[in-house]
Amino acid sequence: MYIKSGLLQAFLLGGVAASRVPDLSERTVDSSARAWAAATEKANRFIAQLNLTEKAAMVTGSSSAGRCIGNIAAIPRLGFTGLCTQDGPTALNRADLVSVFPAGLTAAASWDEDLIYARANALASEFREKGVQILLGPSAGPMGRHTMGGRNWEGFSPDPYLTGRSMDATVRGIQDTGVQAVSKHFIGNEQETQRTRTVSEDGSVVEGISANIDDRTLHELYLWPFADAVKAGTASLMCSYNRVNQTYSCENDHLLNTVLKGQLGFKGYVMSDFFAVHSGVKAATGGLDMNMPGGIDLASIYAGSTSFFGGNLTSAVNNGSLPIARLDDMIRRVMTPYYALKQDQGFPTQDPSSGPVLARYFAQQIPISAEIPARDVRHNHADVIRKLGAAGTVLLKNTNSTLPLVSPKTIGVFGNDAADLSAGLDNALKDDRTGTPLGTLDIGGGSGSGKHTTIISPLDAIKARAQKIGARVSYILDNTVLAANDLHSIYPTPEVCIVFLKTYASEGYDRTTLEADWNSTLVVNNVAARCPNTVVVTHSAGINIMPWASNPNVTAIIAAHLPGEQTGNSIVDILWGDVNPSGKLPYTIPVNETDCNIPIVNLTSISSPTEWQANFTEGQLIDYRAFDAKNVTPLYEFGFGLSYTTFDLGSSISTKALVKNPSAAPNPKTAVVIGGHPDLWLDLVKATIQVSNSGKVAGATVVQLYMSLPADAPAGSPVRTLRGFKKIYLKPGHKSNVDFYLKRRDLSYWDVASQQWVLPTGEISLQVGFSSRDLRIKTTVRVL
Ligand code: NOJ
Repeated sequence: MYIKSGLLQAFLLGGVAASRVPDLSERTVDSSARAWAAATEKANRFIAQLNLTEKAAMVTGSSSAGRCIGNIAAIPRLGFTGLCTQDGPTALNRADLVSVFPAGLTAAASWDEDLIYARANALASEFREKGVQILLGPSAGPMGRHTMGGRNWEGFSPDPYLTGRSMDATVRGIQDTGVQAVSKHFIGNEQETQRTRTVSEDGSVVEGISANIDDRTLHELYLWPFADAVKAGTASLMCSYNRVNQTYSCENDHLLNTVLKGQLGFKGYVMSDFFAVHSGVKAATGGLDMNMPGGIDLASIYAGSTSFFGGNLTSAVNNGSLPIARLDDMIRRVMTPYYALKQDQGFPTQDPSSGPVLARYFAQQIPISAEIPARDVRHNHADVIRKLGAAGTVLLKNTNSTLPLVSPKTIGVFGNDAADLSAGLDNALKDDRTGTPLGTLDIGGGSGSGKHTTIISPLDAIKARAQKIGARVSYILDNTVLAANDLHSIYPTPEVCIVFLKTYASEGYDRTTLEADWNSTLVVNNVAARCPNTVVVTHSAGINIMPWASNPNVTAIIAAHLPGEQTGNSIVDILWGDVNPSGKLPYTIPVNETDCNIPIVNLTSISSPTEWQANFTEGQLIDYRAFDAKNVTPLYEFGFGLSYTTFDLGSSISTKALVKNPSAAPNPKTAVVIGGHPDLWLDLVKATIQVSNSGKVAGATVVQLYMSLPADAPAGSPVRTLRGFKKIYLKPGHKSNVDFYLKRRDLSYWDVASQQWVLPTGEISLQVGFSSRDLRIKTTVRVL
């Protein structure tokens, strides 16, 4: 999002007096249905006191009303202090003295719901202490239809179940601090290229891409994790930039009113993505509840913007084109979560540094005298960052017991990703395609990025470790030197050579290759040609091909994803075995770029303004489902990851029906509640299996359960889908039972004709193992 300079004062307005920040332990958050009902009553009383202008302002952002990326103005006469929204899912962006957390992709690679919750909880507590009521995250869209999607790293996984569990843990983690979660981007925002409407200088308009998704795919794939978010009580959903089946998401009556508010029973508010609104009354009646950044005042600093809400809504009410009841409903949806999360009761004031930091982010010249010291909200969050960074690291290859390192006396470190940041501590904030040439990558770019206060680079952490054990570290960080094969300074050849590669991605762009950046293949090949014990570590915003994977001198490969500011410490913990790797791939790594690739739509010339069309003809068959359906062998499959120990499963799965004679579809007489029809969330089957640590060291693994629908299920059903997982830590020689609870939704398919979830009649196959292709034990169950 590009912003013209000017209007600095807009970001600097507001009082600067800091008040005492209530401690987190002083609050209790109750997000039960009862609490929401009580909150709705409070919202109604609030609405009753508003005049029409105030009503319109409650649903229309205004930059002059605060110092955040999105603001709802205060109404002092009612004691309402306004609302502040900030990005994003990985760090409190455009702020100072905050932490940079592991990305959603890394969190998903941990497959650890407790750690995912802990990440969200710590992140949101930083928002709270900075006085930010609304966190623009988590992201479940894009899900990762395209291996080259530029924002896949902000979300979790192309698998809806893993993303759904991650959304649930994240929404709860956020909202348990009393901060509102905005689950985004709803829906079908799978590519960045032409993600929204563009207007040329001559005024001609080209519409944003239309994600054309069939009804069953929508429900079983892209909507699935949003249902988890709604069930977890997400305060808000952000509608996306793109069109869905030809209509913009933010004015899509079917998606917002019928599916989201109807089928999923969503009672919070739909916030627009920024400048994603292209109509007033149509959007408001189509289900949009809040226009961000909204106000007409912003038009002067954001290029090409128009506000369709604000005064236009008051006119629409006055001329009868928008019922006042709908405007009241919009405000009720905004204020219910506000009261439910007790944001009216002692929420911290906004950190006064937000204004100048935001202004500097947008490259405005602010005088030193305007700089205000920031509140430090990081506490001990480095601990959870370091832990999750290691937990989301996946060991892919480990021959000759290369890892863990025992006591190498000479260590070589190679590659531009090992280095400390070289272009400023917010280098990943640049909205560009490549990032900076020198400096480690621990977070992607765009609105989901963050400004570091500290970062531990891999080289720094390795040097610190080497000093403790009396080892020598030699290094070459410049990829140009490495690609030119100038390794003359490396003498003697190190016992282990660790090559760090990075792959940048940012909002606004899609990737153009799956190869890691900066001549990575040549870099690996040159180092491996000299060093017979080469370990490759990737820090990547997504999937990479690994053309050097079978090189015998590449003895170990680690996908370390985007670990956040403790990146160096997290990787050292894995390399030296302080932490036994337990991360599993939340996606599939292909052998070739073209294997099961769904290309980004990229038109270079167009003949009609509505020509950008993405037809999701593959249906549900993305990522491992496509590899399975086409019988293509991946390099490393979904769910795969090695450990320094070994795990075994018991010889059988025991299953138990938890509901006798369930009906084929949910009871039509039962009303929908928040999260959808309550029957969908009922456990129908329990499956139990034993897992044991059969190796010599303690460690964690992820037991995974996949389900295959019976042969009589509708065509287009995936070969198998993930329907349960459990991360479990075991000491050597220890064993434990793992229980999986399969809900009605897990065992059903979306029946387009009857518009409901239906259980299949035949035998459902359950398969349990340690990856989507390492399925060791199978059984079948019948539910009908
Ligand atoms: C656009 C992005 O798509 C969205 O994720 C973000 O929250 C807003 N900009 C605000 O920065």
